[in-house]
Amino acid sequence: MNIEIEKMNKNHLEEIKEALENEFDDFWNYNILKEELNSSNSKYIVAILNKEIMGFAGVKFALDQADIMNIVTRKDYRNKGIGTLLLNELISICKEFKANSIFLEVNEDNKPAIKLYEKAGFESVGIRKNYYKDKNGIVMRYVV
Ligand SMILES: CC(C)(COP(=O)(O)OP(=O)(O)OC[C@H]1O[C@@H](n2cnc3c(N)ncnc32)[C@H](O)[C@@H]1OP(=O)(O)O)[C@@H](O)C(=O)NCCC(=O)NCCS
Repeated sequence: MNIEIEKMNKNHLEEIKEALENEFDDFWNYNILKEELNSSNSKYIVAILNKEIMGFAGVKFALDQADIMNIVTRKDYRNKGIGTLLLNELISICKEFKANSIFLEVNEDNKPAIKLYEKAGFESVGIRKNYYKDKNGIVMRYVV
């Protein structure tokens, strides 16, 4: 697959606006993403195949720490390596911006995401009890 990774811009966001809930995932909405694109502390990227957006991901910086805000692949294109490409690019961006550590929270039941992060070198460093309603959140860290 010839996937290209680009910096996310407002046109990209408009393109996925209608598809966000059903084709990607429902926990990131248009308005939050729009705010994130306007924030100088956040960096968002998209994965494009044949001019279509197949996934996106974002990271937020605070001093020397980076937090992965989201990473999502279009439902019909999962398990084809797109999440890995997006995550590797986020890690490169964090290196470029001199972050020392990258953190994220993931639902303890989200096996695909946990696998993705572990493969990239993230390690569990804590648990947030009931972070996702009745499910715990696992805090993971990558040392840059
Ligand atoms: C998590 C997510 C981004 C992974 O994206 P993806 O494009 O499918 O990821 P990849 O194809 O690069 O797969 C990476 C690894 O994840 C694991 N994986 C992917 N799908 C899996 C599944 N259905 N079950 C178990 N493991 C899976 C595999 O180990 C895979 O590596 P491998 O193929 O070398 O074994 C995707 O499942 C997604 O969008 N989920 C919904 C949003 C979400 O939960 N985001 C994370 C929030 S913390």
